[in-house]
Amino acid sequence: MNIRIFDDMQQASAAGAEIIAQAIAAKPDTVLGLATGSTPVAMYKELIRMNKAGEVDFAKVRSYNLDEYIGLDGTHDQSYRYFMDDNLFNHINIDKANTHVPCGTGADHAADAKHYDEMIEAAGGIDVQVLGIGNNGHIGFNEPDAVFHKGTHVVDLTDSTIDANKRFFASRDEVPKQAITLGMGGIMRAKKVLLLAFGKGKAEAVRAMVNGEIDPKVPASILQLHADVTMLLDADAASLL
Ligand code: PGA
Repeated sequence: MNIRIFDDMQQASAAGAEIIAQAIAAKPDTVLGLATGSTPVAMYKELIRMNKAGEVDFAKVRSYNLDEYIGLDGTHDQSYRYFMDDNLFNHINIDKANTHVPCGTGADHAADAKHYDEMIEAAGGIDVQVLGIGNNGHIGFNEPDAVFHKGTHVVDLTDSTIDANKRFFASRDEVPKQAITLGMGGIMRAKKVLLLAFGKGKAEAVRAMVNGEIDPKVPASILQLHADVTMLLDADAASLL
């Protein structure tokens, strides 16, 4: 793993944006795997700035997001489709038709999950997968479990994830209890992985991911087996390494 430690989140986010811009310069129809949450927001802001400055062109870029809450459609302001539109897609020259977020409102989640994996495969796979990491070591919504799940699937969110995300909802009761997420197979098949983590709250998850056993109880630990992982950390997130 290529572990890069920065003084602060801004510098790490700028480095992440630069890596993505370079990938797009080399392959204009790059397939990006994108993440939501607070972690990538500063990197997305930098990509917006670079796009407006003519430094990166999203015209041919395709994107597949990691996950979506079950039960929230794209008009809900806590849905991940809404988040992506609001924090990135509405502000860059990407073709919305080329942006994909798993469907959390379909009648048949298993069929939707299978279709999502097939679409990614048909696109040639993910070139650069952006990841945050949960306090509990989750990536996407692959929660700690007895096994690593391969394909896109529906998960029950853990109490710790519901607690972490309740700040975005009017009350804890309104946080969806399930999500649909890309599986570990989909993430591991990405050609390049870019994982960002900031703040003391992530330090233990980062330590367990990098130095712990490869264990489905720390889903991110399987990235020890990936050939091209870059971690962009601030000093606090790296403090237990
Ligand atoms: P955060 O979430 O970016 O809001 O900290 C990360 C995650 O849960 O993967």
